[in-house]
Amino acid sequence: MDTPLRLEVIVASVRPERFAPVVADWFLRAVRARPEFATGVVDLAHTPLPVELTENEHTTAYRARLRDADAFVVVTSEYNHGYPASLKTAFDTAKHEWRAKPIGFVSYGGLSGGLRAVEQLRQVVAEIHMVSVRETVSFHQAKKRFDEAGDTSDAAAIDATERMLRQLAWWGRALRAARTADPYPG
Ligand SMILES: Cc1cc2nc3c(=O)[nH]c(=O)nc-3n(C[C@H](O)[C@H](O)[C@H](O)COP(=O)(O)O)c2cc1C
Repeated sequence: MDTPLRLEVIVASVRPERFAPVVADWFLRAVRARPEFATGVVDLAHTPLPVELTENEHTTAYRARLRDADAFVVVTSEYNHGYPASLKTAFDTAKHEWRAKPIGFVSYGGLSGGLRAVEQLRQVVAEIHMVSVRETVSFHQAKKRFDEAGDTSDAAAIDATERMLRQLAWWGRALRAARTADPYPG
């Protein structure tokens, strides 16, 4: 079997009262059950990246983690029909580290389930030479979708998670092999 793909799950919300950990922890349980990924978490609430895009020891360590990754998943909420500002800073803080790598999205929010944020993110990740995976996991009215143990019976989200992870693994393996065989021209 191939060496597991190094997957970094980026948690976008930094609000003190955020719902993000419920969604992120549920997703992490699903992904960690799969042998094709070795999974880490970059929680932006605990990753102080300056909005001025200046350098410090946190940005250096952050970029090193991105450089070592083969694939990414963003867990994002939706604020005013967009994605959190913390996530834009996270994308803008690195450059070559993102390139020729796949990214999937897990979104949550009110009525739209964060899907408007995801559609904006697809434009951003295309600019930084990433491949966005078609399948999206989304939770509309997210707080009603999880029980007290942090589990969900949302069949559409469970099914989408399986599909998204299979697609992410396919792209992750294909692009890792391609980057090794022939450095990406970007
Ligand atoms: C400033 C703000 C704006 C929001 N705008 C939207 C929105 O446009 N669409 C939506 O579906 N939910 C919206 N919500 C609801 C959030 O998606 C919901 O509160 C979610 O739990 C936020 O994620 P977090 O708690 O992890 O930060 C908004 C919440 C906040 C705080």
